[in-house]
Amino acid sequence: MDPSDLISAADALKAGGLVLMPTETVYGLAADAANPRAVAAVFAAKDRPSFNPLIAHVADLEAARRIARFDDRAEKLAAAFWPGPLTLVLPVADADAVCELARAGLDTVAVRAPAHPVARALLEAFGGPVVAPSANRSGRPSPTTFEAAVEETGARTAAALDGGPCQVGLESTVVALLDEARLLRPGAITRAQIEALVGPLAEAEADARRSPGRLARHYAPDLPVRLDVSTPGRGEAYLAFGPARHDLVFQLSEARDLAEAAANLFAHLRAADRSGATGIAVAPIPQEGLGEAINDRLKRAAGFVG
Ligand code: TXA
Ligand code: MG
Repeated sequence: MDPSDLISAADALKAGGLVLMPTETVYGLAADAANPRAVAAVFAAKDRPSFNPLIAHVADLEAARRIARFDDRAEKLAAAFWPGPLTLVLPVADADAVCELARAGLDTVAVRAPAHPVARALLEAFGGPVVAPSANRSGRPSPTTFEAAVEETGARTAAALDGGPCQVGLESTVVALLDEARLLRPGAITRAQIEALVGPLAEAEADARRSPGRLARHYAPDLPVRLDVSTPGRGEAYLAFGPARHDLVFQLSEARDLAEAAANLFAHLRAADRSGATGIAVAPIPQEGLGEAINDRLKRAAGFVG
């Protein structure tokens, strides 16, 4: 990355512009978290409902502590997994640093310190919290390559940073630490990894105001998606997990490796969607480890989560 690209991207953020920012999970559409006009432009570019709050990205734990109130559990999780693909929902400490619109009016804030070197460099150059929802238009699969990010929302940005393909390929795990520790979104850090530090996780509340991101149809391609398919139909594209024989195969992981499957998932959904197939059939994915997050995204892609 050319340092001058980073400086112009940080300047674009300071001027209220939007920036495509690579992270280790997926590409984000970044804006100054303290600037309501910039944040409004993020919602508009994604066509995202304004009741769905954004994640504030910070350079490090110290910066996170300035905007959110950390308890012992939050300290433990941040020490173990930051920088990295874990988002913590905590009571807000500085209501202006992450503006009300970014928080969708809640008195909580979602924070994460990403691990991608380009994201870290941008956050340091900018010097404050940056909101960055996944750079897809609302309801569509998250972009895991620079090209996919540009295609989704690139036209609305003042700068775009190419950090290569995202290593993780699934969005961060979201854990709320308001009362009981709750899993709001399964993700790259597994349930078992979190429970090992803070004990059993409660489920996301049915109360949509507290976990507004849990919309049913989400991450969805245009074609119909069928899950748990061992024998795809003729004309269907097949997202395989393990060796497969079919006309149109998009291999998530021949070796049945869940991390590899996670990294390929959104790119393969996109490719299958434009392959000329009549639909997308997906192989069964085991519900263990990263499989929980993969199956969560697949169910939403198929429109099955209520
Ligand atoms: O991996 C990621 O987290 C990516 C990269 C770019 O960092 N970002 C991302 O952001 O996935 P987004 O906006 O697509 O997802 C944020 C999720 C949503 O489900 C939202 O509802 C939830 O976090 N969220 C944010 N603030 C919240 C809050 N205060 N309370 C509950 N949920 C919150
Ligand atoms: Mg998203």
